[in-house]
Amino acid sequence: MNTTALGSAVIEAAESRHSVRKYSDEAVTESQLRTLLEAAGRAPSAFNVQPWRWVAVRDQEVKDRLQAAAFGQAQVGAAPVVLVLYTDMQDALANIEETFSATLPAEKAAGTTAHLRQTFGSQSDDDRETWGAGQSYIALGYLLLVAESLGLGTSPMLGFNPDEVKAILGLPPYAKIPALIAVGHPAEAGFDSPRHRVERVLSVVG
Ligand SMILES: Cc1cc2nc3c(=O)[nH]c(=O)nc-3n(C[C@H](O)[C@H](O)[C@H](O)COP(=O)(O)O)c2cc1C
Repeated sequence: MNTTALGSAVIEAAESRHSVRKYSDEAVTESQLRTLLEAAGRAPSAFNVQPWRWVAVRDQEVKDRLQAAAFGQAQVGAAPVVLVLYTDMQDALANIEETFSATLPAEKAAGTTAHLRQTFGSQSDDDRETWGAGQSYIALGYLLLVAESLGLGTSPMLGFNPDEVKAILGLPPYAKIPALIAVGHPAEAGFDSPRHRVERVLSVVG
């Protein structure tokens, strides 16, 4: 198979990435964090809604409280940075013009804006934010891959009490939290977790 250098690098990052739960003392710089979040923010989302929001936690006392909310998972307290990925569809919809103004003619942008506000406005908070969480997992995937390409280890987690995390960080009550992500320089290789072969998960029609 012919691949470009970019293609090879992306495939290599996907193949080499594993969850890392132990980290060295080396700091994750602001510049690395920005690179990660800018790349994650390049993720596609339906209507370009971009419902993901992030909190970057470096403070040890707050990380310790998050660790307790994450059923004691050690990587939360041990990582130099813990990212909390949450959804805020209310903010996204209130500011939806931000996503269209640069790319669409004014009339079309206004029509799409009205359509989205009407469609999502008729949904419950729970349905709306669940939709947002689905979109946010795309950004999570981007972030994990780009972290690997920068030599950073990550541990995505769903094992936490969302209400406790929201209370600790003062997040909106309606928000969903698709993941906590511990980020740091690896001090372990991680497990070589097996993956299904393509034939196991693919049905071909035609
Ligand atoms: C959304 C999500 C939630 C996860 N939650 C946890 C968790 O709470 N604790 C944990 O140790 N690992 C968690 N994991 C890691 C998975 O167990 C891991 O990704 C999977 O076993 C594949 O291994 P790998 O990441 O090393 O390739 C989570 C992964 C994802 C994507």
